[in-house]
Amino acid sequence: MPQSSVLKELESRLSRDFTYGSGRIIGSMCTCPHPLARKVYTCFLDRNLGDSGLSPALVKLEKETIHILGALLSNPKASGHIVTGGTEANTLALWAAKKLSKKNQSEVIVPASAHYSFDKAADLLSLQIVKVGLNSRFQVDVEAVEKAVNSNTIAIVGVAGTTGLGVVDPISELSEIAVKKDLYLHVDAAFGGFVLPFLKELGFSVPDFDFSLPGVCSIAIDPHKMGLAPIPAGGILFQNERLRKTVAWNVSYLAGGESEQATIVGTRSGASVIAVWALLKHLGTEGYKRIVRSCMRLTWKLAVEIQKINGLDIITEPTMNIVGIKSEVFDIRRIAKELRLRKWAVSLFPNHIRIVVMPHVQKQHVEEFLEDLKDIVTELGG
Ligand SMILES: Cc1ncc(COP(=O)(O)O)c(C=O)c1O
Repeated sequence: MPQSSVLKELESRLSRDFTYGSGRIIGSMCTCPHPLARKVYTCFLDRNLGDSGLSPALVKLEKETIHILGALLSNPKASGHIVTGGTEANTLALWAAKKLSKKNQSEVIVPASAHYSFDKAADLLSLQIVKVGLNSRFQVDVEAVEKAVNSNTIAIVGVAGTTGLGVVDPISELSEIAVKKDLYLHVDAAFGGFVLPFLKELGFSVPDFDFSLPGVCSIAIDPHKMGLAPIPAGGILFQNERLRKTVAWNVSYLAGGESEQATIVGTRSGASVIAVWALLKHLGTEGYKRIVRSCMRLTWKLAVEIQKINGLDIITEPTMNIVGIKSEVFDIRRIAKELRLRKWAVSLFPNHIRIVVMPHVQKQHVEEFLEDLKDIVTELGG
């Protein structure tokens, strides 16, 4: 096919898919990449960090990127990588925990609210996931975590920004348990990592969740969520270089000479790292603060308006830019179905609809969404 025909066919075949720019995707944790990130990403598409000897300058850039993210998470000395996303970051953390454990130990304690990537990782690594229930604020029940620890436990996971509701677990208490029992503690801040530090800067009270706590061994933080980076861009940060080394492999045959890989994938995108570095430099704390502030303003507006609709309520006050809509009166699945028929890409959890107010979601989209939601409730007899 000539190039022009390929492009034409792609345009016509993909044009009906959802796009972030349309504002109709209100149930996703990803967003339109920032224009600068798009630009630098396409400039450096050929860069491969899997063969790091070819790109010593890029290796330095990745170290700088991790250093900036580490500083954001209270530890400029953190060591790690830009990976494919939260799933790879969480898997690397469990892999490190497994490598550090004693023979035959295999249990990982996670909150019931943890992302399913932990189940995947445990399956791959032949670990057992022990799920612990939540308290009335949808945080992991710390006493239950302590009770679940036994001689077979290798790690505890806490979430700073749960997938379903954006709730932050009591990480400082988990840290105390981890220190006391000498266990690996991983914090999944895949979503919250690019929200909580800026909420704190904006003057909100944010609980400690990062390397400021002595027990925290690793943190997942995803630039391709609230960091506005192009997909794929996750982040895994280990408390120190020694921990990162537990998952490192030496590869001898590569074109750039002997190199070390501490990621699951081999060949990996240098463009992703460059895009993240560029955004951290360009947006900086002020830029991300502005983005978080604007998402939060809309989130609160949405939460207030939902509570005014007869028969609907929010699950809990939003901690970050995520709202859970529930109903005691209507079948929430039916509402989600009707919203999808009206071309809203919402996310459905067992007891609630999740709305994520990402930077591409504007005031006008929230207003249109609320109108449709009110209509649906009226149609259902509310
Ligand atoms: C808290 C959390 N951790 C991990 C992930 C997995 O991230 P990814 O889809 O980038 O692999 C998600 C995805 O939504 C998430 O919400």
